[in-house]
Amino acid sequence: MTPPRKGPRGKAAKSGGSGKAAKSGGSGKAAKPAKSAKNASPGGRGITVRVKTAKGRKISSIRWLDRQLNDPYVREAERLGYRSRAAFKLIGLDDRFNLLAPGRRVVDLGAAPGGWTQVAVERVRPETTGGQVIALDLTPIDPIPGSTFINLDFLADEAPDALKAALGGPADVVMSDMASPAIGHTKTDHLRIVALCEVAFAFAAEVLAPDGAFIAKVLQGGAENDLLTAVKQQFAKVHHAKPPASRSDSAEMYLVATGFRAVKTD
Ligand SMILES: C[S@@+](CC[C@H](N)C(=O)[O-])C[C@H]1O[C@@H](n2cnc3c(N)ncnc32)[C@H](O)[C@@H]1O
Repeated sequence: MTPPRKGPRGKAAKSGGSGKAAKSGGSGKAAKPAKSAKNASPGGRGITVRVKTAKGRKISSIRWLDRQLNDPYVREAERLGYRSRAAFKLIGLDDRFNLLAPGRRVVDLGAAPGGWTQVAVERVRPETTGGQVIALDLTPIDPIPGSTFINLDFLADEAPDALKAALGGPADVVMSDMASPAIGHTKTDHLRIVALCEVAFAFAAEVLAPDGAFIAKVLQGGAENDLLTAVKQQFAKVHHAKPPASRSDSAEMYLVATGFRAVKTD
């Protein structure tokens, strides 16, 4: 792979939100990495950085900082202008499953700060192909040229209609990296992620075009049985995948379902 050159960095910040779809046109070049990072793999080499002063910091903050400073994906995200190391998780999934292609219509749920949206824009190339990237999060983000951002809680009543209105037609890919902040109670954290995944699946089943794909963050052990059964009825192939950028000490995995059948289940 030719290493992508450095792209300008964007940072998460306030934008006029409250549920309005904000389309980011092609003129601003502020947010998208300059080249595709297809097959990007930062590898593990580099200089180890030590957290110099622990004064006044909690042990958990020191560990977090230490991990951030020495994480090759964090460094690579910085170098390539991605807003989050999570971008490499989508790159890993897409390189394996070929989900994003020029001209596709993509919905990105739980998009902030925008790494997945940047990767989707790079690969769908909305500005030249007529594809679309519609991103949603309850946290506002700086615009990402080529995408439309909706600042809403996905669980709010108006969210599905806002997304459908922005799409203006069926979607090819619905992907969800949504996660509520972990509270540290394993069972509760798990249930919250499953709940988000279920709602995302219900939405995907409504808007996907035949042969479309659904990606959702789940926790180790995969999706809950009921959800998995429902997903298997609706899709030709269902996988659980852990992309290389997903930390090995994290229970996070991704459900990747392809070949949407558009079967009526009720
Ligand atoms: C792991 S981050 C996503 C990272 C993102 N994929 C990226 O590449 O930068 C999870 C996101 O899910 C969002 N989220 C959690 N619950 C949500 C909800 N109910 N509606 C919308 N977004 C939600 C959070 O605000 C957070 O930004």
